[in-house]
Amino acid sequence: MTGALPLDTVRTVADLRDRVRDWRKAGLRIGLVPTMGALHAGHVELVKRAVAGCDRTVVTLFVNPAQFGPSEDYAVYPRDEVRDAALVAAEGAGLLFAPGVEEVYPEGHSTKVHVGGLGDVLEGEFRPGFFTGVATVVTKLLLQSLPDEAFFGEKDYQQLQVIKKLIRDLDIPVTATGVPTVREADGLALSSRNAYLTAEERVQAPILHGTLAQVAEQVGRGVDPRMQEEWARGQLARAGFRQVDYVTVRDASTLEEAADASRPARVLAAAWLGKARLIDNVAV
Ligand code: PAJ
Repeated sequence: MTGALPLDTVRTVADLRDRVRDWRKAGLRIGLVPTMGALHAGHVELVKRAVAGCDRTVVTLFVNPAQFGPSEDYAVYPRDEVRDAALVAAEGAGLLFAPGVEEVYPEGHSTKVHVGGLGDVLEGEFRPGFFTGVATVVTKLLLQSLPDEAFFGEKDYQQLQVIKKLIRDLDIPVTATGVPTVREADGLALSSRNAYLTAEERVQAPILHGTLAQVAEQVGRGVDPRMQEEWARGQLARAGFRQVDYVTVRDASTLEEAADASRPARVLAAAWLGKARLIDNVAV
């Protein structure tokens, strides 16, 4: 579809279902792009992919309180619905679903989706409850809109694997498609949270991607992953990262520790630069 479609905004599950039902009856292929708003070129790339591959695209905009820890940035997470709606409309998406917290979690809501194993390691370990919050809201968004295909960024690689797993485990009839990470020219992955970096930290930040790329290259050549992880930790500390939560070479789908590059592997890291916690990953 082209940018000619008008963009409507709905705020209730009932209105969302009404729209999608008509499209489905007409035999149209429906794409879904879940977001928390504050859209940047990374999100826009997901919307482009959805619009290119589907007849109608639903973009969701919901800052999900369930995936923020008590000391995290829920209250100050950037919000700008008017700007987001304009960006989404310009790409030709057909519908924006922007529910309030009460619509998604009405009083008495108590069901949670927990993806065991895959959701408990790495980000799951450092951000307890995070993936349960993500898995619960994504399950709800998928069941509310029943798309044919849903689009997620490889930027959040573990999140993508967790979502693929819950779709399989719960037999949800949707294909989850991963979209490569959109980066700044210097390699820094686009993220709404990059706004927390000072000018000086912004200069240091691309070292995260550079370091992961070097680890991937070395492991791909047969160097021991554990040695590379140790090297990367030192490299990041020297570059001014004040804490490295993890930097690790994992199996690309199970996220179990990879002993070598004989199977597809992924280098993943999370590290703190000032107030910003940056995550990134690259393929081996
Ligand atoms: P949010 O951080 O807004 O990201 C929405 C989608 O955009 C995710 O699939 C994310 O991986 C993707 N994305 C973010 N930065 C990207 C980049 N630089 N390149 C490519 N894709 C990028 O992730 C979430 O929201 C939430 O957890 C959500 C899935 C919406 C559930 O609340």
